[in-house]
Amino acid sequence: MDDKVKQWMEDWLPRFETVLKQSVAQEHGFDKKLWEAMEYSLLAGGKRLRPAFLVLTGLALGAEEDMLTPFAAALEMIHTYSLIHDDLPAMDNDDYRRGRLTNHKVFGEGMAVLAGDGLLNLAAETLVDAVVAMPAEYKDPGLLAMQRILHAAGPSGMIAGQTADILAEEKQLGAEGLSFIDHNKTGQLLCAPFVCGGLLAGADEKTCGILEQAGFRIGTAFQIQDDILDIEGDQALLGKATGSDALNHKETFVTVYGLEKAKETARQLSEEALRDLAVLPGPYGDSVRALTASLITRKY
Ligand code: IPE
Ligand code: IPE
Ligand code: MG
Ligand code: MG
Ligand code: MG
Repeated sequence: MDDKVKQWMEDWLPRFETVLKQSVAQEHGFDKKLWEAMEYSLLAGGKRLRPAFLVLTGLALGAEEDMLTPFAAALEMIHTYSLIHDDLPAMDNDDYRRGRLTNHKVFGEGMAVLAGDGLLNLAAETLVDAVVAMPAEYKDPGLLAMQRILHAAGPSGMIAGQTADILAEEKQLGAEGLSFIDHNKTGQLLCAPFVCGGLLAGADEKTCGILEQAGFRIGTAFQIQDDILDIEGDQALLGKATGSDALNHKETFVTVYGLEKAKETARQLSEEALRDLAVLPGPYGDSVRALTASLITRKY
């Protein structure tokens, strides 16, 4: 990762982690276990890529960090919920995530289901609260950003991708099915930050369209890279087990096209995305591009 973006992450991350921490710090009654389970996964680290992309994109286009933060936090809550459910025995049945035992291994399956539900709902509340609190002139962009995030997370977005991913364990869906999976299960939640950064900064439709294209390219490249790392990666660095896809008979970019083509495609998509991202001006634009470029060689 380039030094400037590294420095920005080091400066921004503690502020963002504090916001996440506060979001799950509630007065507890009989629901204490639920909030502990939500906090366990939400504060387990993770790269915080989606929120970082949202904040950097918004800053590049002139938005204020304070306005962007709740949208970034909601996105990370949704992403974390998707991981908790993805790891359940009924889905990928994984034991490690973000360098620790998976949620259901610690809290039990029932509580892990509820912790995921809780984070998804908390994300929606966070978005609504943010829009309600916005000055009148920002409410429309705020609503559009909220719409985008909820759509990306929903049954025509990430959940649709996860559905096809499960179906593909039984019956191979082929090239078209695979691109549906990558576009939706991972592409949607990685695209949303770019579009939302643009929307919240009041960027024009053309710019938002280019950001959307970049986001889907980055999201697809990210999932291909994830599939490669599931085979070639180092578990200690990844914080999750490798070999999970083979164990679950997953159809991935690697099983359909092979490792070499997978690497080449991930690189190509990232390069195309970097060209799209030329729409982002200034040093924050440079940071978005540097962060994107760093993903091509990521090891975790
Ligand atoms: C993992 O996402 C799941 C995929 C979409 C491939 P990340 O690799 O961004 O996971 P964290 O947030 O860093 O744990
Ligand atoms: C999951 O894809 C994407 C989600 C929507 C959570 P994977 O199942 O490949 O993600 P990992 O490898 O468990 O992180
Ligand atoms: Mg999965
Ligand atoms: Mg998984
Ligand atoms: Mg994977």
